[in-house]
Amino acid sequence: MTLNEKYECYVKEIEEAHIWQGILYPGFLFKPEVLNDIQSFKVRKDDIFIATFPKSGTTWTAEIVSLIKSEVNIPFVKSLDISERVIHLETPPNRSLKLLEDLGSPRIFGTHLPFHLLPDSIKKGDCKVIYVMRNPKDVAVSFYHHHRMAKDLGNFSGSFKDFLALFSAGKTVCGSWFDHVIGYWEQTEKNILFLKYEDMKKNFRENIEKIADFLGADLSDEQIFKVLNHCSFESMQKNEKANRDWIPIFDKSKGNFMRKGIVGDWKNYFDQQDNQAFMSLYHAKMGQYTNLKFEFEIPLQPRLLPNQPNKKTNFSAKNSTPLSITNSSPQENEYSSSSTDNAFNSINYESSIKFINNNVFAYHERSLLSTSPTSPLFIVR
Ligand code: A3P
Repeated sequence: MTLNEKYECYVKEIEEAHIWQGILYPGFLFKPEVLNDIQSFKVRKDDIFIATFPKSGTTWTAEIVSLIKSEVNIPFVKSLDISERVIHLETPPNRSLKLLEDLGSPRIFGTHLPFHLLPDSIKKGDCKVIYVMRNPKDVAVSFYHHHRMAKDLGNFSGSFKDFLALFSAGKTVCGSWFDHVIGYWEQTEKNILFLKYEDMKKNFRENIEKIADFLGADLSDEQIFKVLNHCSFESMQKNEKANRDWIPIFDKSKGNFMRKGIVGDWKNYFDQQDNQAFMSLYHAKMGQYTNLKFEFEIPLQPRLLPNQPNKKTNFSAKNSTPLSITNSSPQENEYSSSSTDNAFNSINYESSIKFINNNVFAYHERSLLSTSPTSPLFIVR
């Protein structure tokens, strides 16, 4: 099948598919009449926009921002669904942008619009924008699974290869990943905080602090720990107000919105040929943006969790040999017997132990290459 034939099959399955400003949108959710009105949407100075290409960490960032803006009020954020706390601009309640005028400040919005299609006042810098980016190979995999699940996207039944061909050519809904990322990146002089999914995975705390600083929030250590815990992948996956499980357009037999939440899953989907072709496209499109680099895999990172605040331990990173490892399941023993995680080619887990206030608490995620869900493996005391 040629690319055009693949595209025709793809579009045919999408409910109310339409092209708006040169970009394909699924009309069941992204109504043309709403999109047409967005240009004149009036933003307020204290509005916050979380802008992303789909599957780049929108929901994760939305939960973090919403929690920070509520002064880290966990009961509050657990009382309202994420879609009510962070409204998606293109899909407002009752498909009416008018209703958004009645929302109290500060309003938090999500959007997948490319920069050039945002309302003028946002483009002028009248409010804060957080742009979250993720490496395009993991975006492609996540988007593929999203398409398989989403009824309005026709429960995509083609192969990953077919999907990748469409994605690479910018022919999937919401347009080209390259154009989207470059469109925002070129606005470096604007009031935009640029974040990367991979950085958030590598150093969650630092990125929470970056977001808080950008929003003018001064978080205590305890509040940061609460955000770390509440917004971890594992917590969000279990949290029905954040995991989007209830959304009726998702066919749950095909998977979950909170799928794996890792960096490097593309390795399970791209064969060598896919990878070579994609990377040469990537270098051709992104090569000139020398100050914008993406990581396609990251070293195994410990997740730092807050410990009981008063507990003191006396370990240093150098003398970690005698550490005892508590395992909570037999599955974990296979890892605890060796200090080397084979799946990561000789990354020594002991070297990745870190300290918070003298408390040593780290846990590993399961191998990136594994298809099993991530789970805590060790608690090191
Ligand atoms: P995967 O499909 O790779 O698991 P978006 O919200 O932009 O649609 O992005 C969804 C992707 O972000 C999914 O990726 C989802 O699992 C991941 N995600 C959501 N919450 C996360 C979190 N707390 N930590 C890491 N990844 C998260």
